[in-house]
Amino acid sequence: MSEHHPSDANPSSRLRPRAVYSSARWAQRRSPTDLLPPKRGTADRARLVVASNRLPVTITRGPEGQLEAGPAAGGLITALEPVMRERGGVWLGWPGAVGECGLEVGRAMQASDPARPYSLKPIDLSAEDRDLYYLGFANDVLWPLLHGLVDRCGGGSTYLDRYRVVNRRFARAIAEVSNERDFIWVHDYHLLLVGRELRKLGLRNRVGFFLHTPFPAPDLMRDMPWSPEILEGLAAFDLLGFQSPRDQENYQAARGEEVAPARVFPISIDFDEFHPSVTQPSVPIEADRIRSIVGPRTLILGVDRLDYTKGLPEKLRGFRSALREHPELRGRVVLEQLVIPSRSELASYRAVKDEVENLVADINREWARDGWLPVRYHYGHWSRCELLARYQAADVALVTPLMDGMNLVAKEYCVANRGGGVLILSETAGAAHELSHSAILVDPTDERAIGDSVLRAVRMPYTERFKRMSGARELLRARDVHHWVDGFLREGLDALRG
Ligand code: G6P
Repeated sequence: MSEHHPSDANPSSRLRPRAVYSSARWAQRRSPTDLLPPKRGTADRARLVVASNRLPVTITRGPEGQLEAGPAAGGLITALEPVMRERGGVWLGWPGAVGECGLEVGRAMQASDPARPYSLKPIDLSAEDRDLYYLGFANDVLWPLLHGLVDRCGGGSTYLDRYRVVNRRFARAIAEVSNERDFIWVHDYHLLLVGRELRKLGLRNRVGFFLHTPFPAPDLMRDMPWSPEILEGLAAFDLLGFQSPRDQENYQAARGEEVAPARVFPISIDFDEFHPSVTQPSVPIEADRIRSIVGPRTLILGVDRLDYTKGLPEKLRGFRSALREHPELRGRVVLEQLVIPSRSELASYRAVKDEVENLVADINREWARDGWLPVRYHYGHWSRCELLARYQAADVALVTPLMDGMNLVAKEYCVANRGGGVLILSETAGAAHELSHSAILVDPTDERAIGDSVLRAVRMPYTERFKRMSGARELLRARDVHHWVDGFLREGLDALRG
C-alpha cells in the first residue's frame, strides 16, 4: 500500500488514485480561471507555474545507491497536488536530495508517475544550501517566528545570505520556464524574496504568493533586523494570500501601508478524495476492524507531523488530565496518535520526539489495566487506507496545535468521518475560523481545558454531533481546494486589472 500523509500533518500525496475532474465539471467553473487551461498549456496560452520549496516527489538514495522516489510531506503538497493534476502546468521545487538534480533525478521522478499531467522542474540544493537556507533561515528562524514562537528562533549570520542566494536561484529557474502570459504562483515562507528577484530579472508576469503558515503579531516581525527586507520582498508580488483574517491583519499592521493587495483564501482539501461515499471498499473494512479492536470504548484520533508547533506534549498532558480529573473516562477512551517524522536534522524536533515518547510511556504506565491501553502511539506513516479508515472510525479527533496556518487534518476528519464524530480543535489553528460552529474549540496550552473538552465530546448527544458534522461537511463541500485556487486566481487577475 502506498503511504499517505494527511495534510498538514503532513504528508504525502503519493502516487495514489485521485478524483479527476471531467471536462464537464471543468466547464462549470467560473470564468476568470478559464484563462488557465485545465491541462498542460502551450506557448501561447497562460499556464500555471508553481514554485514551492518542496516538490510532491522526494528523491532519496536507496541502500544500493539507487535513486528512489517517494512522497513529500506537508499540507502544501496535499493541497496543491490535486490542483496541479487538474490544471496542469509546471511545478518547481526541491526534490529533497542534496546535490542531486541531474537527468537521473528527472528520470526517477518521471518513473514514479509516468502519467503525471504536469511537469516537475527540480531545483538543486547543495549540502550548504540545505543547512543554511532550508534548515537555517527557513526552519530555524522563519518557521518559529511565523508561529509566534520567538524563543525558538535560532540565528546565523550566513543564514540570510544563503536564503537570498537560493531565492534568486528559484527566480532564475522560474524565469527560464515561464512564458510571458503564465501566471506564476509562489508558495510559503521559504520563498519570500522570489517576487523581488523576479522583478530584478525584468519579469513582468503576474506573480502571486500564498503563505501557508500564520503571519505573526506585527511587533514580533518588526523586532527582527531583517524584517524591512522581507516585507519589501513581499511587496513585489501582485497578490498576497493568507490563510485567515488574523494573518492578513498582522501582515497589514506590520507593513503599515498597503502595497500589494493582501487577501484571505483559506486553504482546503479535495473533498471528493475524502468523502466516505467514494473511498475504496478496503477502507470501511479496515474501519470496522479498528472498531472491533477498540470495542465500545471511545476512539480519539490524533494525526500530526512531528513539530513543536503541533502541541503534542500539551495534547498528551491534556489527555492525562482527562483521565485524572474525570474518572468516568478511565477504561473508556483510547487515544490513537500518529506522529509523522519531520525535519529530524534539527535538534529541536528530536527533543519533541523524546518528550512525546516519554509522556506516552508515563501515561500508559500510570493508567493501563485489564487489557486497556490508553494511548496507542505510532511514529511513522500510515497508508492512505489506514488513515481514511481511522478518520471513518474515530469518535473524536483531537487537533490541538499551538499555532497553525490552517490544519488540514481537521478538515480531512470532518469530511471523511462516517457522521457522528466530534472535532476538538485548537482555537489558534486557522481552521478554527471556518469551523467554529462545528468544532469544540479549545486553548491548546490549557491541559485542563483539553481534558474537559474530551469529556464534553464523549458526552455529546448524537443529534448534536451529527448536526455539527453535517454543517462542517456542507461548508467543506462548497469550499474545497478547487474553490481555494479559483479564488486566488480570480483575485490575482483582478489585482492586475487594477
Ligand atoms: C508545512 C509547511 C510546508 C512544508 C511542510 C513539511 O506544512 O507549510 O511548506 O513543506 O510543513 O515540511 P518540510 O520541511 O518537510 O518541507
